[in-house]
Amino acid sequence: MWKMDIINIYDNSDKLYYIGGVVRDKLLGIESFDVDITYVGDAVEYCAKFGKVVQENPDFGTIRVNVDGREVDFASTRAEVYEKKGHLPVVTKIGCSLKEDVLRRDFTVNALAMSVKTGEIVDYVGGQEDLKNKVLRVLHDKSFIDDPTRIIRGLKFRVRFGFDLEPKTRKLQEDYLAHINYDMSYKRVKKELIETFNLNSQYAFELFIKEEIYKLISPEKFEIPNVNVQELINKYPVEYPWLVYIGLLPNLARLDLTKEEKRIIEDFRSVGKLKTDFKIYKAFDGLTTESILLYAVSKDMKVALKYLDTLRNTKISITGDDLKSLGIEPSPKYQEIFDYVLKKKLKNPQITYEDEIQLVKNLIK
Ligand code: CTP
Repeated sequence: MWKMDIINIYDNSDKLYYIGGVVRDKLLGIESFDVDITYVGDAVEYCAKFGKVVQENPDFGTIRVNVDGREVDFASTRAEVYEKKGHLPVVTKIGCSLKEDVLRRDFTVNALAMSVKTGEIVDYVGGQEDLKNKVLRVLHDKSFIDDPTRIIRGLKFRVRFGFDLEPKTRKLQEDYLAHINYDMSYKRVKKELIETFNLNSQYAFELFIKEEIYKLISPEKFEIPNVNVQELINKYPVEYPWLVYIGLLPNLARLDLTKEEKRIIEDFRSVGKLKTDFKIYKAFDGLTTESILLYAVSKDMKVALKYLDTLRNTKISITGDDLKSLGIEPSPKYQEIFDYVLKKKLKNPQITYEDEIQLVKNLIK
């Protein structure tokens, strides 16, 4: 029995194939995050024996099994049609031939299969040749019309692997972007945008703008900011790198942002011109680094960096208890006093706790 080195499956069936990204990655000599295996037939029935079943979806013919501590997705070979362009396809047949299963996929390099039993590569679409030449090629002319998220997936793979679009595929992308049908699943678009821009790549951003891929989200013209966003994020790490790129687009309405994501965008958009250190501090204090970087890129780099590099480290030491000890009754006045001390401290960060107390004493005299 042949043992494949990707995962430990000992099985004599010649109906099991590694499929999609895992085969592409194996041939590129890199480790895959996800292992997808397809079974020519009903995977739910056949593949449960490989380990503890984590999840199964008989309607789609898929089953997730924990094989030796690694979650593996087993799918039945299936044929699909895009009844509604831009939305999830409808499964028309479960247990079709391997060839049919492969032909519904996005790019030739993602349409390779590898026998689990023998390690033999099955390539119906010239994926190996394209992998060698580092090109992304769609399988048919309607590919982007069926599923426009593939344009963003293409961008992601170009950035991750240094691939290029094969000329006809490039032309199909251009054609689609010139006639976008905005009735598409933006949930999937958003997922691909997140995966692409969390790679934190200036190159991805440049292609996104130069090739007008951003039009998938909104048609408003968008100029490339004269700033290296990648370097900025490297210097000031953020939780959501993608949002520092995508947040620059003028209209995000289609993306169905979460409350937290909306807040990040609203925060940076609402901050205007800032003249004094105190105003900068007050405007940015409590904002996420994402919002501040968005402000940096689109409004005023100098001001934002002044806050991130120096101002934000300034903290006053006195508390409400100190004010109480000085005989000041709690009231909104406290905030005015803290702001007064903060202003002084921003001018002179060397000020000590004792200095701050003295400042308050002088103020209330
Ligand atoms: N696929 C597709 N069209 C899509 C999404 C996925 O044809 N819009 C197919 C591709 O064959 C892909 C497979 O489904 O290889 C699995 O998709 P996914 O897990 O998203 O990508 P991988 O290629 O496995 O890449 P990775 O997980 O490394 O990002």
